[in-house]
Amino acid sequence: MNSKIAIVTGANRGLGKALAEKLAHDGIFVILVSRDVKKAEPTLQAIEKLGGKGMIKQCDISKTSDIEMFAQDISKDFSCIDILINCAAINIDGQEVTIETMPLELMEQTLATNFYGTLWMCKHIVPLMRPSKDGRIINFSSGLGQLGVPRMGPMPAYSMSKTIVNAITKNLAEELKDTNIIVTSVDPGWVLTDMGGPNAMLTIPEGIDTPYWLATAPANEISSGYFYKERKVLDW
Ligand SMILES: NC(=O)c1ccc[n+]([C@@H]2O[C@H](COP(=O)([O-])OP(=O)(O)OC[C@H]3O[C@@H](n4cnc5c(N)ncnc54)[C@H](OP(=O)(O)O)[C@@H]3O)[C@@H](O)[C@H]2O)c1
Repeated sequence: MNSKIAIVTGANRGLGKALAEKLAHDGIFVILVSRDVKKAEPTLQAIEKLGGKGMIKQCDISKTSDIEMFAQDISKDFSCIDILINCAAINIDGQEVTIETMPLELMEQTLATNFYGTLWMCKHIVPLMRPSKDGRIINFSSGLGQLGVPRMGPMPAYSMSKTIVNAITKNLAEELKDTNIIVTSVDPGWVLTDMGGPNAMLTIPEGIDTPYWLATAPANEISSGYFYKERKVLDW
């Protein structure tokens, strides 16, 4: 295949869906990762309607065994992956949860998806990205994961999970510094999706602007191992 190959998790709705469609519109072959294949069919249909190409792969990213099988499966068809977008995540805290009141299962479920899901995807897809001449890994974080600013609100489990996503980015970028793979974290801003809710400030096209740019801009415009928002480096 001559085109670049991208993997997008959470490709069945929200920011992942919009990003997958935009990348495919650029001629990139997109592997749409969804835990429910049926739910990703509208994304693939939208891609194909505009002449793009892609395929759907089932994977529940909260299960490390699913990720391992997914990586093994795609390694049979693709010798090189160029772009990995770790977009899938959950925010199940609700407004009232505090560290004192948090049930263990809440934290475990959040970490299984947001932390282990992202980490395991990196662990198993990086070997397939090494042959790429221009590899990009974009880990979706959040302003709520920032440590260098006053806390912006509640949702401790989600917030802590996003702080660790940033730690994945920092560690992996260091490990890959002598390769062609650029690793970044992104805060898309507060976006009108199911997770962002109806009061969010940004439209979905605005929310995918920076992650799309991180995935497609010339490599010399982006610094590996950094956290981005609005196309600028954000403090950790
Ligand atoms: N929206 C915002 O304001 C905002 C702000 C800051 C950061 N972010 C981050 O941006 C990213 C995208 O957010 P969004 O607003 O688009 O969220 P969303 O609308 O809630 O979509 C989340 C996506 O993740 C998928 N997902 C969740 N758990 C999964 C699992 N175990 N396996 C596979 N897929 C799973 C969902 O699939 P299902 O349909 O199967 O559940 C869905 O496709 C997230 O990482 C989020 O933390 C969002």
